[in-house]
Amino acid sequence: MDFRTGRYLKRMAELVGMTSKAYGIDISLGMLEVTKKRLKKAGLMDRVELYCEDALQIPYEDDMFDAIFMSFTLELFDTPEIPIVLEEARRVLKPNGRLGIVSISNEDGESIPLRVYKWAHQNFPKHIDCRPIYVEKSIKNAGYEVRCKERVKMFGFPIEIVIAINSKEVIKSRFFFSI
Ligand SMILES: C[S@@+](CC[C@H](N)C(=O)[O-])C[C@H]1O[C@@H](n2cnc3c(N)ncnc32)[C@H](O)[C@@H]1O
Repeated sequence: MDFRTGRYLKRMAELVGMTSKAYGIDISLGMLEVTKKRLKKAGLMDRVELYCEDALQIPYEDDMFDAIFMSFTLELFDTPEIPIVLEEARRVLKPNGRLGIVSISNEDGESIPLRVYKWAHQNFPKHIDCRPIYVEKSIKNAGYEVRCKERVKMFGFPIEIVIAINSKEVIKSRFFFSI
C-alpha cells in the first residue's frame, strides 16, 4: 500500500480515462494542495475535481457516483459520526455503487500494538487523532452489502480493507474520492 496523500486519487484519475472524472474532497486545504501538486505533476488535473469540503455533508447530489473510496479517514471521525459519513456516502452513490474503505481495525482490539495505539489516542488526541474502528461492522450497520474483506498489517497494526455495494451491478465511470 502507498500512503502518500492523493496517491490513490491519482490512480483513480488514471483509471477513469479521458471521458470521466474522479472527485476528491478533504477538509484540509494543505492536503488538497499536496494532492493538486501530485496530479499536476502527473498531468491528470483535467480528470479530477478537488474541493475543500466536509465528509459529514458531502456537497454532491444524490446517486451521482459509481464508486467511493476512503483511506485512513473514517477512523478520524467520532463514533456517532461514522454512520453519518457512511450514510452521506450512500446518498451520493448510485444504487449499484461500490464503496471501498481502508482503515485501522479494532477487530484485534486486545493486541499489544492496538492497546498502545488506543492509549496514545486517549492521552494525546491532538497528536494521535485517529483510533482503530470496527470497519466491516460499521459498513454493514450502515446498510451496505459487504462483498469482500481483507486484513493486512501496517507497522504491526491491523488494517481492514472492505469493499461493499448498495445493490447488484456496478458501472464504472465516475469516482468520488476522499484524499
Ligand atoms: C490520515 S489522512 C489520510 C489521507 C489519505 N486518504 C491517505 O490515505 O493517505 C486523513 C484525511 O482526512 C481528512 N479529513 C479529516 N476530517 C475530514 C472531514 N470531516 N471531511 C473531509 N476530510 C476530512 C484530513 O484532512 C486528512 O487529509
